[in-house]
Amino acid sequence: MKKKGLFITLEGPDGGGKTTQAHKLVDWFRLYGRQVVLTREPGGTDAAERIRELVLDPAYAISAQTETLLHLAARADHVDKVIRPALAEGKVVLCDRFSDSTLVYQGILRHMDLARLRKLNDFSTGGLRPDVTILLDGDPRVLLQRRNERGVVDKFELQGLEFHDAVRAGYLQLAQEEPDRILVVDATRDPEVVMEEIIKKLEGLV
Ligand code: TYD
Repeated sequence: MKKKGLFITLEGPDGGGKTTQAHKLVDWFRLYGRQVVLTREPGGTDAAERIRELVLDPAYAISAQTETLLHLAARADHVDKVIRPALAEGKVVLCDRFSDSTLVYQGILRHMDLARLRKLNDFSTGGLRPDVTILLDGDPRVLLQRRNERGVVDKFELQGLEFHDAVRAGYLQLAQEEPDRILVVDATRDPEVVMEEIIKKLEGLV
């Protein structure tokens, strides 16, 4: 019988180690002989990467509506060209950020109606939703400090702590609404320990 594709998304604030964990997960799935596609949002296709440049460029002061529609346009292309085809071939798709990012950053932080955003998300994905979402959660003060120790400075540091607290609260709100899909993992610990916990949670799915 054909292996069923598995769609996993990684969510959480910048600094939570999504990229590190994504790479570790790729290795783990490959050990099980699964083919894995690692991708990210906004981005993942040529057109969506062009949109990424535009939507993340602080030089453009865009409205919440414009920002939302750009993310959704990028997502529609990404789902259509990369995610759905890979799932149809039975692959594991690991995506660094997906629809939940829109619900938190545009919905909760920029005060857009969540019910309407969920419908728009479904419009852009054709109804595709993640099988599992790993939320790398943690106090932004701790995540930030760890990041500083690594000498990484980016726009994450430039935003106020209030913003990062609101991002965290937004994700936790979503996790409370969908506890079966969204697995909350404490990302303030050693990356190896975080990985072990993620694997324990995923083991039943492989
Ligand atoms: P990220 O991939 O973490 O990039 P970087 O490490 O370069 O900051 O995230 C890009 C940003 O895009 C992040 O701040 C969250 C934001 N974002 C949204 O606001 N809405 C969305 O739908 C997505 C996918 C991302």
